Amino acid sequence: MNFTILPFDKIDSTNTEAINQAKRGAEEGLCIVAREQTAGRGRHGRTWISAKDAGLYFSLVLRPKIETHLLPLITLMTAVAAHNAIENAFKIECDIKWVNDIHVGGKKICGILAETVETEKDLAVIVGIGINLKSSNFPPELAETATSIENETGATPNLEKFLPILTSFLEKYCDLLYEDAEKIRKEWSSRSSYAFGKSVKIKLENETIYGITRGIEENGALRLELETGEVRIIHAGDVEQLRNI
Ligand code: BTN
Repeated sequence: MNFTILPFDKIDSTNTEAINQAKRGAEEGLCIVAREQTAGRGRHGRTWISAKDAGLYFSLVLRPKIETHLLPLITLMTAVAAHNAIENAFKIECDIKWVNDIHVGGKKICGILAETVETEKDLAVIVGIGINLKSSNFPPELAETATSIENETGATPNLEKFLPILTSFLEKYCDLLYEDAEKIRKEWSSRSSYAFGKSVKIKLENETIYGITRGIEENGALRLELETGEVRIIHAGDVEQLRNI
């Protein structure tokens, strides 16, 4: 993959810019990076707080050559790449919370938002990655549940060094996904404590369910065994670990 980095000081959302670039024909490998976002987006329609230089705000254009039903695996592939890049660059131990949050010590350090867009050429997928670099600007409600690279390492991260590490892992795992999707499911499962045997609570659109995780489906959906023994397949939802008391 040929990576081209398009840097911005300030932008509404790097994902929105990447979507617009993809519509205009951008090739796979175009990356949008900004120092600040004024309308950063998170999953489930949430806002992603994006103060200047407090985070990495990064979006990559992909034109995936995989079967449509496997497209959700792109988000798992991105989580594996971000997980490895953070561990490798900053020497901190990370976990992947289904489906694609990167956690350190139970707190979120990185979120991923994948969006699809139909373009004249084909379907493009935009993967947006937000990594918390500093915690100083966290609003009080985030301080409990989120952490940052600075918080975990005691040092201000150097983005010039980190970006090539991130893109090289994205290239590696993207190639792996295109070659054999099973390998990405294995890579994801080996990095996520949520893959098997975790007691969780999942908030769905209209209900909250409890159960134990039993691995992932071909497309990355989560298998959850309920108390009744019934296995539910979860395609989207907020997962929360249940702590033993
Ligand atoms: C989540 O809710 O966990 C996903 C957060 C994704 C945030 C990133 S920051 C770069 C890119 N641009 C956006 O507007 N969102 C993503």
